[in-house]
Amino acid sequence: MTQPIVEIKNLSKTIKGKQIIKNLNLTFLPGQITGFLGPNGAGKTTTIRMMTGLMHPSEGEIIINGHSIVNNFEQAISNVGVIVENPEMYKYMSGYKNLQHFARMHKGVTKERIDEVVAQVGLQNRIHEKVKTYSLGMRQRLGLAQALLHRPKFLILDEPTNGLDPAGIREFRMYLHKIAMEDNVAILVSSHMLSEIELMVERIAIIQNGELIDIRELKQEIASQYYIEVGQPEKLEELYAGRVKKESSGFVVDLTRENVPEYVRSLMEAGIDLYTIHPIQKRLEDQFIEMTGGGAINAIH
Ligand SMILES: Nc1ncnc2c1ncn2[C@@H]1O[C@H](COP(=O)(O)OP(=O)(O)OP(=O)(O)O)[C@@H](O)[C@H]1O
Ligand SMILES: [Mg+2]
Repeated sequence: MTQPIVEIKNLSKTIKGKQIIKNLNLTFLPGQITGFLGPNGAGKTTTIRMMTGLMHPSEGEIIINGHSIVNNFEQAISNVGVIVENPEMYKYMSGYKNLQHFARMHKGVTKERIDEVVAQVGLQNRIHEKVKTYSLGMRQRLGLAQALLHRPKFLILDEPTNGLDPAGIREFRMYLHKIAMEDNVAILVSSHMLSEIELMVERIAIIQNGELIDIRELKQEIASQYYIEVGQPEKLEELYAGRVKKESSGFVVDLTRENVPEYVRSLMEAGIDLYTIHPIQKRLEDQFIEMTGGGAINAIH
């Protein structure tokens, strides 16, 4: 069995008598992309701050590649790459100079490695220009390049696609998949963009009021309902009474994928024209709101 690269064990954080993180347990496997979801104020950033040594846990521990982030910070953090909301860059230096600067903070980052990550994130044509001339998307790419310089085994991204255009988001997603697969990097992505997370990750961890309330693999749910539109709605309601439910300009029917061809044949035989048929899938967004209740931010005391 694959060993986890990161283990969060019984992690708690109390600030001024308020318990913000409550006994969190979570592991990350190499190559696995996990989405970190939760309403505003749930504790995502606090957890990430503890994982990157910016804040001390009140209880519990975080082990990264065998090293405790508290007792063995240097070794633990050498395995971590982080992108926080707005990567700090020197705007009056070129992208390349910025990377050189960050490279000096790690052991063994060669000039070849810098060139490699620049090519990986597709910045080779602009890397010698000053960062102040970069667009938001280019700055994000530079942030990613910086986070990857030292070949981390664990990558943490807090709201990474903020401000990216749809093409940028798509590219970013492909790129994450690539580094997870090819370099076996474990990735944690926090985001509120559920439609995006849905395509980006294979597992989600949901936190609410500082507690991990769900961790699940995202498999495409098998649809058990289909939406149809037909040319003869009255006839359909008559022939399939009790088995169709009217919805907007069509109907919802209980049906599994295997039964679709037979169902379509039976409509044809009954002289009913079919204009549209598609599965009804519960989106991650619906599932998330169901689980967390949506709405107001909870008081923490
Ligand atoms: N330094 C602090 N002192 C007091 N309370 C804090 C501190 N840092 C965070 N909190 C509280 O801890 C809770 C969790 O905050 P956190 O920033 O981790 O949430 P989040 O999940 O990242 O939310 P968002 O989605 O809004 O970014 C909030 O109620 C916040 O007010
Ligand atoms: Mg946050």
